Amino acid sequence: MDIGTVISTPDGPSVSGFSFVINDEGPLAKQGQFITLKTPEGTMVARISDIFKSNRYFQRAESVREYEKSGKRMAEIFPVERWEYLIGRAKPLAVFSEKLMQRPCFPPSPGDAVKLADGEMLSKFIGLDPKGIDIGRINFHETPVRLNLTKLLQKHLAILSISGGGKSYLTSVIIEELLERKPGDGQVATVIVDTHGEYIGFAEDEKYRNKVSVITGKDFKIGVTGLSPTLISHFVPDMTHVQERELRRILNRARNEMKGRTYDLTDIIRMVAEDEKVKSSTKDILITILRHLRQTGFFGVSDNPSLESLARQGHATIIDVSDVTSLRKRQMLVSYLGKKLFDARTENRIPPFVFIVEEAHNFAPEGVKREAALSKGIIEKIAREGRKFNASLCLISQRPIQLSTTALSQCNTHTILRVTNPYDLDHIGKSSEGLTRDVLDTVSSLRVGEALIVGEAVNYPIFVKVRERKSRKSERGIPLEEAAVRYHKERAKKSQDAKSFM
Ligand SMILES: Nc1ncnc2c1ncn2[C@@H]1O[C@H](COP(=O)(O)OP(=O)(O)O)[C@@H](O)[C@H]1O
Ligand SMILES: [Mg+2]
Repeated sequence: MDIGTVISTPDGPSVSGFSFVINDEGPLAKQGQFITLKTPEGTMVARISDIFKSNRYFQRAESVREYEKSGKRMAEIFPVERWEYLIGRAKPLAVFSEKLMQRPCFPPSPGDAVKLADGEMLSKFIGLDPKGIDIGRINFHETPVRLNLTKLLQKHLAILSISGGGKSYLTSVIIEELLERKPGDGQVATVIVDTHGEYIGFAEDEKYRNKVSVITGKDFKIGVTGLSPTLISHFVPDMTHVQERELRRILNRARNEMKGRTYDLTDIIRMVAEDEKVKSSTKDILITILRHLRQTGFFGVSDNPSLESLARQGHATIIDVSDVTSLRKRQMLVSYLGKKLFDARTENRIPPFVFIVEEAHNFAPEGVKREAALSKGIIEKIAREGRKFNASLCLISQRPIQLSTTALSQCNTHTILRVTNPYDLDHIGKSSEGLTRDVLDTVSSLRVGEALIVGEAVNYPIFVKVRERKSRKSERGIPLEEAAVRYHKERAKKSQDAKSFM
């Protein structure tokens, strides 16, 4: 479809930019659209960076003023409307010849026809994959955005926006896609740390429920049987060398002496109490430490979920931690999960996985010591080393500034929904490669459900309209208004019931 014609301007057409007059018949060109032109080098792809209007009658301030001094408006004296034109500014991005994509070396010529880029060309240019993860459509184009699984996840994904920007919605869309993949297309295991119980709707949805399991914080257990001493000392970073040594010895004793039997923290506490070698002062402290750990309610005889059920191809395990109110306990849980997944993956005991962490800034906070945020170390470790083992992270955050720079900068694809805070925008600009100022500025005007994708998954940053979700929304995390209306209705019904009973 022809949407305009390249014109000659004082500074163009050049390799870095050109203008074109926009056809006003048919659908108008829009800022942000991708366009193509035929050039001797091949097909040029460009992006419309700006659109403005021009009118010769209004070019000179003095003539406008002088004519209008007569008391009449310009439009009453001249046929000004006929001389108003829409002009688009565009930036050449690439040239395709045969199968090769190159940087443009020659400008288009004045008079060249400007066409709206078609789906095939856009897919090629952006590097989309017909078998990829379908997250929606390119803004102003009908082209489906199917992102290659490897490019999207292998080098980790970050999903950022203000609260209410649509992060969890987009994440649900991605989870749907992961669950719908066929074994032959490559299925990963998905593990989600669900801080608000927003994803449990999957388990109630008949389309997905046989591929999803939910574990609540209450049911989550760290198995003490065979637990490595290193893990326990990780949960208690301030143990002294002696305390750690003694605990290590007793845990090893438990492993040896109770071979074939299961045991929990209470058994370990008893062993410490009965141990004759450990000094009494150390003993008291160790018992206190272990009792504290026991109080978390996280320790049991064996792991729940077990490793086998936690990470299954084509399956998602949702860890609903909304019932765990203490941040430290949540961090313990994430830290244990992360370690368990990562270690098992490095030994190829579980399939490639993606570990989705909501509110990632709480689990890997910037500027906080590792000991103070138990899960920070493992998230950064997976971020740095995960790609070698196909252990992927998807970090979700409404506070990018507070999210570990180490972790964020290792996320090679950023999906940015609406962000309004200028500090956050700046931070994102610095941590996402290939983001120009004009693209970044658009981020603050995005509407809910619109996203900018930049990085590994796409050859060029694109704005996307996130597709509608197919899965059932969780009853929890409903908007304030809806919750208030529902509460009112329930109360009204209750009082009605009470009246009719009397
Ligand atoms: N692509 C979309 N299409 C339709 N509604 C959306 C879309 N994205 C978000 N929403 C709605 O906007 C609200 C906030 O989205 P949510 O994903 O919970 O935001 P966040 O997780 O960023 O806080 C929800 O009510 C959600 O249903
Ligand atoms: Mg959310």
